[in-house]
Amino acid sequence: MAENLLKGKLGIITGALDENSIAWKTALKAHEQGARFVLTNAPIAMRMGAIKELAEECKTIVIPADATSLEDIEKLYTESKEYLGGNFDFLLHSIGMSPNIRKGRSYGDLNYDWVNKSYDVSAISFHKMMHVAERMDIMNEWGSIMGLSYIAAQRVYPFYTDMADAKALLESIARGYGYRFGKSKKVRVNTISQSPTKTTAGTGIGGFDAFFNFADKMSPLGNAPAEACADYIITMFSDLTRYVTMQNLFHDGGYSTTGISEELMEQFKDL
Ligand SMILES: NC(=O)c1ccc[n+]([C@@H]2O[C@H](COP(=O)([O-])OP(=O)(O)OC[C@H]3O[C@@H](n4cnc5c(N)ncnc54)[C@H](O)[C@@H]3O)[C@@H](O)[C@H]2O)c1
Repeated sequence: MAENLLKGKLGIITGALDENSIAWKTALKAHEQGARFVLTNAPIAMRMGAIKELAEECKTIVIPADATSLEDIEKLYTESKEYLGGNFDFLLHSIGMSPNIRKGRSYGDLNYDWVNKSYDVSAISFHKMMHVAERMDIMNEWGSIMGLSYIAAQRVYPFYTDMADAKALLESIARGYGYRFGKSKKVRVNTISQSPTKTTAGTGIGGFDAFFNFADKMSPLGNAPAEACADYIITMFSDLTRYVTMQNLFHDGGYSTTGISEELMEQFKDL
């Protein structure tokens, strides 16, 4: 399905680690829709990941950058602009990591150095990416900037620990920068709140299978797969969504507005 929705558009895609990554699928679709972009990931992830194969498929290059480093982001933008030959129409922030989750720390037993790391990597890096973009004046008018969130920003999911707070911060940053960028460049900033998805970041969360299955049974349409999330991101990068900004957009098969499903009622009726 190549409708050329992104024909002539230039951008940056972060966070493609392997073929399960939401960013990986987004890159393939952005390429298919006529966009040109640079791929980037943290230097450590690049060594482990297969991102170079993706770059070949998308006929582009990879520029390593730690999204928590202003210098790395600046270098990424400068080199990408040179390679692409112009300013950007879209930026995808598809980055998340919590050392507390990795080490199995509960919400009442967080390591605060790691909390700072979780916030910096998963949320403040979004601010930093937009801050550098604004300072370098590197976004084209009517551009689109997207981050990825999860419903734990609004509701308690005990196993999601400090990532829940990081996602709340991420969504707030989307509103704050959405206002600034809307005023200055007509650039929109949004987050997509995605269903549980079987990726490295997703499955690293304690009890992932249980809440994946629960959400799937709760959602009238079932969990939204990564590929469908990529489709949504493409529409948000296209000119068809120019006036959507400062929103957290649920992409969850109806999960967030369902109280209970018949399947779940069936499961609990004889307890
Ligand atoms: N998988 C899910 O269930 C789910 C649900 C809702 C939202 N999300 C969000 O989607 C986004 C993408 O995650 P994913 O599920 O595709 O998993 P993923 O593990 O494939 O992607 C996460 C990426 O973040 C990158 N990253 C980590 N630290 C970084 C740093 N310092 N600088 C640059 N990049 C760094 C990793 O290398 C990796 O590529 C994340 O924000 C995640 O929280 C995921």
